[in-house]
Amino acid sequence: MITRRLLASEADSLSTAEAILRAGGIVAVPTETVYGLAADATKPEAVSAIFAAKGRPANHPLIVHVASVDDLDKWAVDIPDHAYTLASSFWPGPLTMLLKKAAHVSPVVTGGLESIGIRVPSHPVLHALLLSSGIGLAAPSANPYKQLSPTNAEQVIEKLDGKIDAVLDGGDCAIGLESTIVDLSGDVVRVLRAGPISPSALSAVLGQQVTAPASHNTSVPGNIENHYQPKTPLRLLSREQLLAKMAAAGDAEAFIVLADFPKDESPSQQIISMPASKPAFAKIFYKTLHDLDRKNLSAIWFELPPQTEEWMDVNDRLQRASHAS
Ligand code: TXA
Ligand code: MG
Repeated sequence: MITRRLLASEADSLSTAEAILRAGGIVAVPTETVYGLAADATKPEAVSAIFAAKGRPANHPLIVHVASVDDLDKWAVDIPDHAYTLASSFWPGPLTMLLKKAAHVSPVVTGGLESIGIRVPSHPVLHALLLSSGIGLAAPSANPYKQLSPTNAEQVIEKLDGKIDAVLDGGDCAIGLESTIVDLSGDVVRVLRAGPISPSALSAVLGQQVTAPASHNTSVPGNIENHYQPKTPLRLLSREQLLAKMAAAGDAEAFIVLADFPKDESPSQQIISMPASKPAFAKIFYKTLHDLDRKNLSAIWFELPPQTEEWMDVNDRLQRASHAS
């Protein structure tokens, strides 16, 4: 299969992407979080092709991306008022809601579950495609199973060239980390995957406590511990441990440090300084790991970020990216 590269800035790109999707093809699309690998959610065979391209187990559910909150009742039933309250504050944007699925939704999309994940993305290119086509797009992140999520079209091509029909190139993702997943299908509202929208932000809007996830919530198939991993072994260290490690490390090891890391302590190894602000850090997080992963290093040592709610999603992904020692 030849993977076509469609530049979102070119006039025909959206109609070409739409035609591929209508024909049952799979297209990697930009979102504000990470690139997704999309198929028409009403075509089970097309959705199966996503699992094949990623090498993802069939019981791991996909998120359905729709144009607007008005599409909710096409995909879900028994929708609680909470869903509309959250939608008016956070959609379009990086929030996925789990609801009870409508009867017509194929179990291929939901991994056999009775719930469905739905999100209205804010990326202008994807939003335009969803609006003009009216298609609901089932899409996981556009990476091979367990590997790093892509935040630009080059990273998608690097890993999936020849396995998917096309990539719609809409530039770098603005946020860079996957959406917050909130479960609205049960009695308590809970976050199942930390993301850009914090539990306190959800609690404030709902006027009730939203519980935070344990760092590794096994209640969701697909929410596995060894996920989002670079090939190069990555370990998390405190600043003290990092300084000690640097003193003895060779040049095939890289260090990713926080912005206030003391510069004059820096020896000859590769040292990458990350931005101090969480949004700026998140935006380049996967790219930094993708870039280092091409260098065949023996280790990546990562300085533990602040352990605050704002950094919860970064810490979650880092825990999973790190290889057990
Ligand atoms: O930001 C994002 O959420 C990106 C972009 C492309 O939208 N998508 C994404 O999809 O991260 P994925 O498949 O890589 O991760 C979504 C996770 C799944 O692994 C699964 O754990 C959970 O969402 N999920 C989806 N549907 C679910 C359901 N019905 N019940 C429980 N968990 C669900
Ligand atoms: Mg993923």
